[in-house]
Amino acid sequence: MTPDEALATDWWHLIAHETELASPGDWLRFDWPLGELVVTNDGGKLLAFDNVCPHRGGRFFDGPSGHGAAVCPYHAWRIKDGAVKVAQAARFKPCDLQRAVLNRYEVQRFGPWVFAGVAPRQTLADQLGDLAEALLSMGRDVERRTDLLAETWDCDWRVAVENALETYHVAPIHGTSLGTLGLTNEAWRLHGANSDYTADVGAARTARGLQAMGRFFETTAAHPGYRSVHVFPFAMVSSTFGYSSALQTFMPGEDGRDTRFTTRVLGARRAAGMEAPADAFLASSARMNRQVFEEDRAICERMSRRYDLDAPNRIFADNEGRVAHFADTLRSLAAAPAERRRA
Ligand code: FES
Ligand SMILES: [Fe+2]
Repeated sequence: MTPDEALATDWWHLIAHETELASPGDWLRFDWPLGELVVTNDGGKLLAFDNVCPHRGGRFFDGPSGHGAAVCPYHAWRIKDGAVKVAQAARFKPCDLQRAVLNRYEVQRFGPWVFAGVAPRQTLADQLGDLAEALLSMGRDVERRTDLLAETWDCDWRVAVENALETYHVAPIHGTSLGTLGLTNEAWRLHGANSDYTADVGAARTARGLQAMGRFFETTAAHPGYRSVHVFPFAMVSSTFGYSSALQTFMPGEDGRDTRFTTRVLGARRAAGMEAPADAFLASSARMNRQVFEEDRAICERMSRRYDLDAPNRIFADNEGRVAHFADTLRSLAAAPAERRRA
């Protein structure tokens, strides 16, 4: 097993907010070290599985997200109630049909968040530890997804996650986007392998404008500023005043060289009669989100592949502490692979 495959296998993965899978037929698909991970709303129940048809390998779903029946396009086998329904079953030997099963994964909800696991080494509650409260508060007020972007970044996935874990790069890289918030009073905390970052919006006019937006939304639990949490290993959730949250996944591609990236904007419940201005704000959030990640993608793709991400003596500023923690966590996992698999 490669280190990326071990991470995919051993940990719970935050992959969705429940509003993205609210109706029967809703689905999401991710590229990751074990091939393709799919989660569907299968008649009201969430079902996660490897996107490979057990007949002859058709891929049930293509694209990042959609709505529709889970039908293999090749010979029309379908998935219903967690099982494979074989087309023209009389043509097969009964004993062969017993082997017509999906490679299913575990699904667990944590509040409104949806996690998938292959063979997680710990309970989801243990994995999240003290991060739980922040994560719950960030998902509680979400009404619906308002944007989704899925793309491949030509960089090591660790470069992409490390970049998302520090704000040292905000001024040079995001001068006209995230930088306009003037993040100040920054604080970060570690929670097991996870971490949490909060900051106030220091740009006075922007802060006043954001505060005034409160009347467009019904938020209950938001941090009054900017917050970003890393759900180890592959997911990040950020929020600005709780009006909009963004969920990112940075999954290693199957060959380990690139990053399979998704970002989703999740809008908070809109106050009655305020749908139009709320939607205008959410549309501008989606534009900002896309600009920020285009800037991140450009710098991540510019990083040298010769730089050693595993080196023990890397050079970090005081606002790169979460990067150091992430790198330390990966290094200690890599140092004890046999033990981890025995546990
Ligand atoms: S490969 Fe899926 S039905 Fe034949
Ligand atoms: Fe960035």
